[in-house]
Amino acid sequence: GAAVTADISKLEPGQLIRVEWRGKPVWIVKRTTETLDQLALTEENLRDPGSDVAQQPAYAQNRHRSIKPDIFVAVGICTHLGCSPSYLPNDFSEQVEGIISGFFCPCHGSKFDMAGRVFQGVPAPTNLVVPPHMFIDDNTIVVG
Ligand code: FES
Repeated sequence: GAAVTADISKLEPGQLIRVEWRGKPVWIVKRTTETLDQLALTEENLRDPGSDVAQQPAYAQNRHRSIKPDIFVAVGICTHLGCSPSYLPNDFSEQVEGIISGFFCPCHGSKFDMAGRVFQGVPAPTNLVVPPHMFIDDNTIVVG
């Protein structure tokens, strides 16, 4: 399928933009320092914290599941039955649906952290998929 190019020059910390790749929604999120720090805090509650069974390119198999720590690229489709999870950016310190920041699927309550890693005890079996992607320059990402 055709690759898609995204301009992230105007992406603010905490913001999520969507592009379409092979008919699928792909999110590009610029994570804040605070949400990156949270990735280490709840790992004991994750099903696959090291993304060992998750789908991602080798360069994104790390705690933040990305090339640059702050820029997260993921397919915005729940790995349970394909609903569209909501983004919980966390501009506050309280938990929403039991998580501080991340993604929440309204269909059956699956929860993912800000690296798309699924929490235990929810129906989604695996972490969100990270598609192949690369940086052309600091402000330009090619997905695909
Ligand atoms: Fe997301 Fe079922 S489709 S929890």
